[in-house]
Amino acid sequence: MVHPLMKIMKIGFIGAGNMTQALIKGILEPKQVKNNQVYVSNRTPGKLIKLKELYPGLNAREFNEEIVDECDIIILAMKPQDLPAAVSEISEKFREEQIIISLAAGINIDALAKIIPEGRLARMMPNTPSLIGRGVIGLLTQNMDESGSDLIHDIFSSLGVMLDVETEDQFDALMVSCSSGTGFVFEMMMYWQDWIQERGFTEEEAKQMTVETFLGASLLAAQSAGIDIEELQQRVTSKKGVTAAGLNSMRELEIERALRISFEKASMRSQEISRQNQV
Ligand SMILES: NC(=O)c1ccc[n+]([C@@H]2O[C@H](COP(=O)([O-])OP(=O)(O)OC[C@H]3O[C@@H](n4cnc5c(N)ncnc54)[C@H](OP(=O)(O)O)[C@@H]3O)[C@@H](O)[C@H]2O)c1
Repeated sequence: MVHPLMKIMKIGFIGAGNMTQALIKGILEPKQVKNNQVYVSNRTPGKLIKLKELYPGLNAREFNEEIVDECDIIILAMKPQDLPAAVSEISEKFREEQIIISLAAGINIDALAKIIPEGRLARMMPNTPSLIGRGVIGLLTQNMDESGSDLIHDIFSSLGVMLDVETEDQFDALMVSCSSGTGFVFEMMMYWQDWIQERGFTEEEAKQMTVETFLGASLLAAQSAGIDIEELQQRVTSKKGVTAAGLNSMRELEIERALRISFEKASMRSQEISRQNQV
């Protein structure tokens, strides 16, 4: 059963960019939330006009403070570098009972609390597969009661798997491995496709073979309860066979080390952005 408040909550977005558009699509499609429960403001009006055309009844607002005045849940969806100034202008407007969710990478909850004195705060990190309901969405909250947390889960559940994390470090790890991680997986898929194409397959065939291999492996892992990934790998690897030869080479070339370094570099960049955005 969905949260009883879900049908009456007013959900406001400050910033109408890519992520807001993806989230609005995700929360409106299952029809648990109606168009007229959604409120959006943006720095410039163009995206609001488009959103109103797409979702009749959606409420566009000229000023960010109107979103804070009117809504129960407020999603801060501008770029991290725009957030501190935009929020400082309206910081006195937030109310104790409101749920305020920041999507900004690199601004931690303590920093948000400095500019948002009232309200129940959360950070949320969706990745791009959320667009098709297959996202991993990290959630870190502060002073959030169970009811508030349940409400966030219910509203955004259609985007994919929502994971509550306990610390900023975990939030960072989830962002690197799942949000940036989506980009890392695409990087590998590109090499996969290139290799196949170089062997005479068309671009379309090579893309299909690549996508289906990643998808098939992922679905097999997802549907193999109680069997870990290493065991699934062993099942396709016979001693001194073809797969074993490839895997030995991957290990000699230290793919694991390369991946770990890449994850660490991404994590360091995230911390650097945090320092730059300190409020
Ligand atoms: N894209 C992703 O995959 C992803 C994933 C996870 C988290 N995020 C986070 O989500 C947030 C938004 O990212 P995005 O990709 O959606 O960015 P985006 O497409 O650039 O959208 C940002 C929007 O914020 C608006 N804006 C800027 N300053 C504003 C202000 N003072 N008041 C009202 N609106 C303002 C911009 O308006 P204009 O139209 O005038 O420029 C723009 O439409 C970021 O913090 C990002 O870190 C993104």
